[in-house]
Amino acid sequence: MKNQINAVLEKALQQLEAATSQAELEEIRVKILGKKGELTGILKQLGTLSAQERPVIGQLANEVRTKLEGKISEKMTEIKESALLQQLKDEKIDVTMPGKRNELGYKHPLTTVLNEIKDIFIGMGFSIAEGPEVEYDYYNFEALNLPKDHPARDTQDTFYITDNILLRTQTSPMQVRVMEKQQPPIRIIAPGRVYRSDEVDATHSPLFHQIEGLVIDKGVTMGDLKGTLEVFAKRLYGEDAVVRFRPHHFPFTEPSAEMDIQCFSCQGKGCRLCKNEGWIEILGCGMVHPKVLENCGIDPEEYSGFAFGLGLERIVMRRYNIDDMRLLYENDMKFFKSIK
Ligand code: DAH
Repeated sequence: MKNQINAVLEKALQQLEAATSQAELEEIRVKILGKKGELTGILKQLGTLSAQERPVIGQLANEVRTKLEGKISEKMTEIKESALLQQLKDEKIDVTMPGKRNELGYKHPLTTVLNEIKDIFIGMGFSIAEGPEVEYDYYNFEALNLPKDHPARDTQDTFYITDNILLRTQTSPMQVRVMEKQQPPIRIIAPGRVYRSDEVDATHSPLFHQIEGLVIDKGVTMGDLKGTLEVFAKRLYGEDAVVRFRPHHFPFTEPSAEMDIQCFSCQGKGCRLCKNEGWIEILGCGMVHPKVLENCGIDPEEYSGFAFGLGLERIVMRRYNIDDMRLLYENDMKFFKSIK
């Protein structure tokens, strides 16, 4: 029996030495020391031994058990440590590897130019007004002297939502919204998106941007309009910019005009940029129609004022020499980088 026990010990030690995982160790432990294990089996036969042999063999078996248990826990520590080392190795971060660069964006050219225009007007004492893009027919047309059957409505292809609600076709409704809320003196610009049911092409988009301006006070004249807008043009295009005013018609101003700037590419001689006109149209403007003032609860006998509206896209396209409006909306970083 002594030999049997020693043989079990030898074999177990060999297996333990070879074991490489915690699961293997557990398997060996059960096979030798478990309830049905080899050593346990041998001990069950102690009863068949003589009274002298029994304590000797019993002691030996206990020593073997203790030895094996010690070996198993030793091996367990060893395996755990090497697993940890392996994990540290696997998860090691190479801090010398090049990082992933985040591409930095740029201000959109529409934003850059809008900010410039805002600064120019803020410098002249204007404040910024904002209002809804989904607008009532009343504000977009009716209060601006464009009743339901007015032919001028046809020039602004409108996205109607209901009979009375639409996507604003111009920023001019902001004139009405501001005058309804605020008594003169008023000096605001209102930039924002406007919508028209146009097919997309190089010069049209169903969504574009306008900037509205409105000044109302006592004794405001056409001279104030011309002076203010000329200063604006010089700030935007340079002090040597030359402007002219042409008579025009808008239902909500009387008299109305369009302001042109002398072509900065050919100095008025005529070229491709100005389509041989020598002049480039910049904005529409005029003295606010007395009816519009009345519609907003402002007495036209006491107050007068001027308004203007300009399209942001056209100014931006000319500034950056872009001949296709779609480029402004495609958000192609390569393109923006190229005009930065
Ligand atoms: N709302 C006009 C348009 O979209 C532009 C305009 C013209 C605005 C004259 C004005 C103005 O305030 O006085 O065509």
